[in-house]
Amino acid sequence: MIKVKKRKLLLLPGDGIGPEVIAEVRKIIEWLNKNKSLDFEIEEALVGGSSYEKHKTPITDEVFYQALESEAVILGAVGGPQWDNLEFSKRPERALLKLRKELKLFANLRPAICFKQLVDASSLKPEIISGLDIMIVRELTGGIYFGEPRGISPIENGERKGINTHTYTTSEIHRVARVAFELAKKRKNQVTSCEKSNVMEAGLLWKEEVQALRDKEFKNVELKHMLADNCAMQLLRNPKQFDVIVTDNLFGDILSDEAAMLTGSLGLLPSASLGAKDKNGKMRSMYEPIHGSAPDIAGKNIANPIASILSLSMALRYSLDLDAEANLLDAAVQQVLDDGLRTKDIMSAGKKEVGTSVMGDAIISKLK
Ligand code: IPM
Ligand code: MG
Repeated sequence: MIKVKKRKLLLLPGDGIGPEVIAEVRKIIEWLNKNKSLDFEIEEALVGGSSYEKHKTPITDEVFYQALESEAVILGAVGGPQWDNLEFSKRPERALLKLRKELKLFANLRPAICFKQLVDASSLKPEIISGLDIMIVRELTGGIYFGEPRGISPIENGERKGINTHTYTTSEIHRVARVAFELAKKRKNQVTSCEKSNVMEAGLLWKEEVQALRDKEFKNVELKHMLADNCAMQLLRNPKQFDVIVTDNLFGDILSDEAAMLTGSLGLLPSASLGAKDKNGKMRSMYEPIHGSAPDIAGKNIANPIASILSLSMALRYSLDLDAEANLLDAAVQQVLDDGLRTKDIMSAGKKEVGTSVMGDAIISKLK
């Protein structure tokens, strides 16, 4: 069989349950290397609190350069209570923000899919969420997360003032909206753009620029505008009205958590953070499960590895041009769920509860 060129994948397990779930991802990559004649070179490095413990910084320059040089980064999770009181620049989350910003990963794709096997895991009625398939496209390198000026400073009367700045430019809006429109074309051809144009100038600009791009380049895609608060409400009332939602960094953070929870299974949802394509069609990218580091269950071999494994599948699809392998992996996950295997977070009566590594092994056994 023909061997493809060696491509570097950087695994950043991070904190909490990150190392356990990423260990299962590593097993799958190794399996693909061996059985699908792929030749991924796997690198692994510290990030977040675990990097802080060793190097007094949440991400070293060396790891950052490794990320720059890899074909895709797959990250577990960062953060934990022991680092909550560190100054901002040392916090685990800073590693994530630095990777997003400096790798220019401006488009964050967060699918909210209701797995048919888990309809009952949602807090919403089955008829509201069964068949749910929303793609949230969150802007990831701008807005209030990165705007200047920012900071906390003393003012008169011994008081202090905290400032963050919400800004967007035309090109920042267009590049992320373009990703949303392109995705919609392969789905139900419908985009909902969310902002607060009723109170924020930057929100009004967002709305106008998304509309302008649609009118110029995507005339056949249906575009709706929705105020972000209304969107939060509509997601609970009738989530199946949505196909692709595009929104800014902060609203995207909030709405994507809400949408994910509709599915009842945070432990199953992956995400992709993508940069622009260069002239060779290559782009930088990072993939992560939606769930956090869940320190309360770390080290117990009970975490659900599926969100991370599906993040690998997104990497195969979006960054590595391996659609067939991605399909294979997605199907393996479905089969394991059909067989009734469940980790604790999605366990229900009559199913078989398994730990992290057994779940990973079961998925591998379905690849065969
Ligand atoms: C997310 C997280 C991050 C964010 C944190 C960990 C910085 O909530 O990826 O949604 O706010 O973007
Ligand atoms: Mg979040």
